[in-house]
Amino acid sequence: MKHKVLIGFMGSGKTSVSRILAESLGLGLLDTDEEIERLQGRTVSDIFAEDGEPAFRQMERELLMRLSLEKKPLVIATGGGLAAQPENRQLLKKLGDVIYLQVRPETVLSRLADDSSRPLLQGGGREEKVKTLLAIRQPAYEAAATCCVCTDGKSPRQIAEEIMERTKK
Ligand code: S3P
Repeated sequence: MKHKVLIGFMGSGKTSVSRILAESLGLGLLDTDEEIERLQGRTVSDIFAEDGEPAFRQMERELLMRLSLEKKPLVIATGGGLAAQPENRQLLKKLGDVIYLQVRPETVLSRLADDSSRPLLQGGGREEKVKTLLAIRQPAYEAAATCCVCTDGKSPRQIAEEIMERTKK
């Protein structure tokens, strides 16, 4: 079983690229944030506010374990923190191709300029938060990935095509 798993920072394009990829490859699509929201019946922001980040990370991990048992290949878009947790690395690699969507902090800031849905970017100092968190997570993303794609200046379709080219066997 070979899923195609998209990892990377908030605003790297995982959600939009995953939709194109799933459609082009004729595969099912699963977004970990959406699946957790569906299972919990509340938003990611509410889970962070009510239960805290560690509880959300545990939900992500449990979902990942469930996906490792899924027989049907899927395109999976992950939340930005999932692949940054070292304990998820082996499990991710077992799922199939793990594609890291690399993005510069400036691109994240412009893509998420009008977005207030990310609990980790609430309050002031957004530029500093993005730069610091991205720098901390970068090595973990690289270690979890089987393939890296640079996304700056590219459309979701261009990125999806590059992924198909790079992961076809
Ligand atoms: C998070 C990224 C979000 C979501 C949650 C935490 C993170 O997903 O899982 O807000 O830790 O980077 P997106 O990458 O889809 O924004």
